[in-house]
Amino acid sequence: MPGFVWVNGEVLPADAPHIAVFDRGFQLGDGIFETMRASGGRVTELAEHEARLRRSADGLDIDLPADVRARLERGIADLLAAEGLDGPGADASIRVTVSRGAWSSRGLLPPRDVHLEPTIAIQAWPVVPAPPSHLEGGLHLVASAVRRDPANPLVTLKTTSRADYVFARLEARRAGADDALFLTTSGHISESTTANVFLVRRAADGVPELATPALGCAILPGTTRSWLLRWATGVGLRPVEAWLLPDALASADEAFVCSSVAGVLPVTRFDGAPIGDGHPGPFTRRARADREGFIVGR
Ligand SMILES: Cc1ncc(COP(=O)(O)O)c(C=O)c1O
Repeated sequence: MPGFVWVNGEVLPADAPHIAVFDRGFQLGDGIFETMRASGGRVTELAEHEARLRRSADGLDIDLPADVRARLERGIADLLAAEGLDGPGADASIRVTVSRGAWSSRGLLPPRDVHLEPTIAIQAWPVVPAPPSHLEGGLHLVASAVRRDPANPLVTLKTTSRADYVFARLEARRAGADDALFLTTSGHISESTTANVFLVRRAADGVPELATPALGCAILPGTTRSWLLRWATGVGLRPVEAWLLPDALASADEAFVCSSVAGVLPVTRFDGAPIGDGHPGPFTRRARADREGFIVGR
C-alpha cells in the first residue's frame, strides 16, 4: 500500500481523507486519467501523456489549469520522493486522475456560470514485475460481450467511467483467462481492457508485418502503440494499421498487447485456441526488450 498520495498540490498520507463525496468524479465518473511509468524518477513520454490528458479534458469540457504540466511535474517529483521511488533503478507506475471537481447540486449537467476547480490527484506504486507465466507462457484473451462503437465520441478518451472495462475484466476472470478483448460493433478487433493489441503475420507479398487496429477501431491512441509503430521498420516489420477481424488474430504468427506500465506482453491464446505455435514469438520478445530498454534509457 502506498504511504502517500498527492492531491491538489499537497502530498498527504494515503489513509487521510482526500476528496469530497460531492466530487463529480466519485458521483458520475466525470473525470479523466493517465497512467505512466517512471524509471529512476524520470517519467517516460510525459509530453505524450500530457497531450492525451488535454485531449480527454477537451472531450469532456473539463478546464485544466493553464500550468497543468508544471503542476504534474512538481507533484510527481514530490510524490516519488515521498514514496522513495525516485532513486536510481526505481521503477514506478503513476496514475494522474483529474475530475471536474466538487459540486453540491444534484444532476448531470455541470454549472455553466460557476467555475469548478478540477480535483487533481496523483498516485504512485512500485511496478510489479510481470509474472514469468505471462512472459514465458503468454496471456489468454477472451472476447468480451461488451462491444465498442467506433461512432461513440467517448470511446477513445481516457475517462474515469470505466464500468465497461471492469465488467470485461470480470468476464475474463470468470472464463479463467487473463484479459478480455473488445470487439467493435462491426466485429473487428478493438483493444484489451488496458492495452493496445498487435499481431505479427506474413502478408500476401511475403513481407512480415506488424499489424494493429486502426485508430478508428474504438481504441485508445496508446503511447506505446505509437512507439511500436515507429520501432517496427527498424526490425524489418512493415507497420500496418487496419480493421482486423478476430480471424487475423487466430491465424497470426505472434500477438502481443502493450501499455505504458506493463510494456509488451505476449498473447498466446485467444478464446481457448493457440496463436501461432502457442508460445511467445521472437518479434514479441524483441519488442518487449527494446521497449524496456527505452524506458530505462538504455
Ligand atoms: C484501454 C486502453 N487501451 C490502451 C492503453 C495503452 O495506452 P498507453 O500505451 O498509452 O499506456 C491503455 C493504457 O492504459 C488503456 O487503458
